[in-house]
Amino acid sequence: MTTSLNELEAQLATLKQVATKAIAATDTLEQLEQLRVGYLGKKGQLSQILRGMGQLAAEDRPRIGSLANVVKESLQASLDGKRSYLQEAQIQAQLESETLDVTMPGVYSPIGRVHPINSTIDRVLDIFVGLGYTVATGPEMETDYYNFEALNTPADHPARDMQDTFYLPDGNLLRTHTSSVQIHYMEDSEPPIRIVAPGRCYRRDTVDATHAAVFYQIEILAVDEGLTFTDLKGTIKVFLEEMFGEDLPIRFRASYFPFTEPSAEVDVQWQGRWLEVMGCGMVDPNVLKSVGYDPEVYTGFAAGFGVERFAMVLHQIDDIRRLYNSDLRFLQQF
Ligand code: DAH
Repeated sequence: MTTSLNELEAQLATLKQVATKAIAATDTLEQLEQLRVGYLGKKGQLSQILRGMGQLAAEDRPRIGSLANVVKESLQASLDGKRSYLQEAQIQAQLESETLDVTMPGVYSPIGRVHPINSTIDRVLDIFVGLGYTVATGPEMETDYYNFEALNTPADHPARDMQDTFYLPDGNLLRTHTSSVQIHYMEDSEPPIRIVAPGRCYRRDTVDATHAAVFYQIEILAVDEGLTFTDLKGTIKVFLEEMFGEDLPIRFRASYFPFTEPSAEVDVQWQGRWLEVMGCGMVDPNVLKSVGYDPEVYTGFAAGFGVERFAMVLHQIDDIRRLYNSDLRFLQQF
């Protein structure tokens, strides 16, 4: 089959017309690329038309050649123009979709706060760490030995009455105070010792404005050569002043604990009356003996205080139960 000059000219003209229209109608860069390959690519329509040139008379070829060039350049120009138009539009669309309206209200997500019990613990730990103490912890479920025996409180000791607790079927119990941490720590270490031990405690207490059956304590213990009651008193005084400022009235009161001798309790002013916030004393020699320390060489002092009561004095809270019932109206004040 031979192809005439006229036919080729007509084919080129049709190609130009159809392709120009198609390019104008495209609205994505992917489609545009497909059109380019289809019209101007190696196996595209223009190449196919030019393949017919071989059958032309030699003198007619330059005419078709230059006409093909004109068509090619025209299509190329349309493609280029359309490509930059589509690219521009794409950038514009992206800019619009990513516009940041800084005046739009943000998404509200409430910020949590530190519970007053935890912030009080943090504050106490900060003070004692500043005094060179190490933070220690112990288990909440204890054996009778760590909670009582080793603390010079044998089974028939009347002081146990005040510290009745939850007993588990295997004879273990929920610790009644953080004093048990003293024993754990001393068993594993040698003097000099200075520890501060926060933790949860349990007691069969009748709940009222100043008592809870589950509560927090912080224990301190110092054991060294030559420690005296003066060191204890000085430490407690510095601590309380750091905690409450120098203006809050405090008083030491002689008291009794099985694991200290002599012992004292410390009261601070709260709601117009004295509130007991801690017990303390010189570590009883029997306690030192129970962990293998020689009481002729070492002496120590210890104290244990109620975290909730500290928080109550610090924030003028009238009832300990407010600290446990998760009322946001209350908690958001801190
Ligand atoms: N463990 C005592 C209690 O819970 C408080 C206490 C008193 C702790 C004297 C001590 C201390 O370390 O020396 O009531």
